[in-house]
Amino acid sequence: MSDRDLKAIAEKIVADGRGVLAADESTGTIKKRFDQIGVDNTEENRRDYREMLFRAAGHGKYTGGVILFDETLRQSAADGTPLVELLRAEDVVPGIKVDQGAKPLAGAPEETVTEGLDGLRERFAEYRGLGADFAKWRAVIKIGADIPSDYCIDANAHALARYAALSQEAGIVPIVEPEVLMDGDHDLARCQEVTEDTLDAVFNALYRQRVELEGILLKPNMVISGQDASSRAGVQDVAAATLATLKRCVPSAVPGIVFLSGGQSEEEATEHLDAMNRMGPLPWKLSFSYGRALQQSALKAWSGKTENVAAGQRAYLHRARMNWAAARGEWAAEMEKAA
Ligand code: 13P
Repeated sequence: MSDRDLKAIAEKIVADGRGVLAADESTGTIKKRFDQIGVDNTEENRRDYREMLFRAAGHGKYTGGVILFDETLRQSAADGTPLVELLRAEDVVPGIKVDQGAKPLAGAPEETVTEGLDGLRERFAEYRGLGADFAKWRAVIKIGADIPSDYCIDANAHALARYAALSQEAGIVPIVEPEVLMDGDHDLARCQEVTEDTLDAVFNALYRQRVELEGILLKPNMVISGQDASSRAGVQDVAAATLATLKRCVPSAVPGIVFLSGGQSEEEATEHLDAMNRMGPLPWKLSFSYGRALQQSALKAWSGKTENVAAGQRAYLHRARMNWAAARGEWAAEMEKAA
């Protein structure tokens, strides 16, 4: 179906404990991050921030791929080097977020479906020309008293598979991201039930729409207690429930599973990943595709100041290294303190 070896690209991204940096915040989302550190949301500041991350020396050991936003894929560093070239110099695979956001689902109050399929074939052709070798599409599933509906899960699974098929046709590895949100006061069992229903629908849709499972990466949520749950499940329970769910739902043909962090703290996200990898052997690589959990400390250390670039890079490299260790089941709490 593709002119390229998608399996090789997917495997390269998650080789030897490497994972993905999700730096694909839309202009609206990065504004929220910049507001927290008092930085204006200008195109130049967005460029400077991402240039800082991509120039962190040696990050390619830990980071196999970086997901970019449309603007970033087209941007150049202050010295004129395309940002994509900075990534290639570190042997990091550039990726592109192609969805256009979760929009209200007709007839389903409180639920959403992700848009962006119209014209996607043409956009993929352009993105490949700009150097993207993988892509991301995020579907959002919310847990509430009477939701998610089967209608919402099916609509999102169908769109994810449409996207993945078009991505592979263009020679681009699709990251398939069905995110069951952590928002709410539900318990671990409820998150597990909804995550299983969602992954079941997603893999059915992928199969029916002829997506080659060897040439995708799955980006799921962990099975975790709701943010506002009265008592939260511990690390071992989260790891065991997440692995049970993935083993039930994800065929072993899939080369890698890269989790989103979804509102977990930096250390929590690392500790959970490490616990799961210690429970191996597993049929797929189990790694990270974190946004907030890789960037929080780096953003704060940088705070928009040129003189803080080295500190921001140190903070980013530290988090990347911790998650790389976790993807190998070799992380320890002392490694955090040592830094
Ligand atoms: P978080 O890790 O901050 O959840 O972001 C990952 C992501 O790419 C969501 O689409």
